[in-house]
Amino acid sequence: MFPRIMISLPKLISNAQTILSLCKRHGVSSIFLVGKVLAGYKEVLGALAPLGFTYLADSRMDNLKKFQEFSIPKALTRIPMLSEIKDVIKYSSLALVSEIKTIEALSQEAFRQEKNYDVILMFDLGDLREGVFYKEDYMPLIKAILHLPNIHLKGIGTNLTCLEGVIPDQVNMGILVDIKNKIENAFEIHLDLVSGGNSSTLYMLDNLPSQINNLRIGEAIFLGRETAFGNLIPGMFQDAFTLEAEIVEIQRKPSHPIGTLSINAFGETPILRNSGEMNRAILAIGKQDVDHNHLTPHDSTIKSLESNSDYLIIQLEDNTYHLGDIVSFSLDYASLLQCMSSHYVRKILLNS
Ligand SMILES: Cc1ncc(COP(=O)(O)O)c(C=O)c1O
Repeated sequence: MFPRIMISLPKLISNAQTILSLCKRHGVSSIFLVGKVLAGYKEVLGALAPLGFTYLADSRMDNLKKFQEFSIPKALTRIPMLSEIKDVIKYSSLALVSEIKTIEALSQEAFRQEKNYDVILMFDLGDLREGVFYKEDYMPLIKAILHLPNIHLKGIGTNLTCLEGVIPDQVNMGILVDIKNKIENAFEIHLDLVSGGNSSTLYMLDNLPSQINNLRIGEAIFLGRETAFGNLIPGMFQDAFTLEAEIVEIQRKPSHPIGTLSINAFGETPILRNSGEMNRAILAIGKQDVDHNHLTPHDSTIKSLESNSDYLIIQLEDNTYHLGDIVSFSLDYASLLQCMSSHYVRKILLNS
């Protein structure tokens, strides 16, 4: 049945082992496996988590609930909603946080459930996503957290290159270390974890301040590249995932539509070109599954043209394709996330 995504478990295991040894060689002793791109696909995450990761992390409680059978501690990477606090305490042992009200709610619920709960306080060092803005006076916040029952300030962290594309560098990593030192000195405590970001921090492992001892890694493991510059990581696989879709129509047609033109089904005005007749094939996969702009056909002579909810229209240079043939694509992070999240895309786990 198609469309389907073929997933190579050995390649992912190899990628995970490479990241773990790379990080550990550079003094990063704690690595979170951030599995959210797999939308809770336990068959892979259950195999990767025990390889040496300290936490299995995800942005969605729905996924963390599914991982309860795995003994590895679970971490919530999206700062918690007030409406999900009960589940957060029940199904995870650590969350990234930034709001005192949320931390207070976690404290009350942890007390109620008779648990101790760990938090990593996030600092926004310029990417303008989650976290306390680093120029604020954060000491009163730290003091308040340290007074809360059943809450343990496990560490501090930052997240970069996610919203605005700010990359980690000596300046912002230095600020994170400075914050750690100030907190430790002011309150005479030890912060176990200083979490220096995600796959975009890997490029500077050689120059990472030694106090940064944790990274939260997803994309590098799944797609074999760092994300500050998109460079491939030597020895890692970029092709652990392949998307396959089936041709349901293949005909020779004009490249330019015929008739009075208005908007398409998505309210967009298509950009049209007239390049004469072409071999047009329709694949049974559409926007409901994936945005075709994030797919790369393995056959470089194929051009993706347009898609609507159910169809992807491609142009075929050669006429060796037939009805029922399968066209394969490689994926980027966005298309992998969409395909794994779509229940219309079958997931096939390969042992090769
Ligand atoms: C807070 C946080 N940390 C780490 C990650 C992992 O990022 P990446 O997949 O780029 O390694 C993400 C994204 O999933 C995240 O939201």
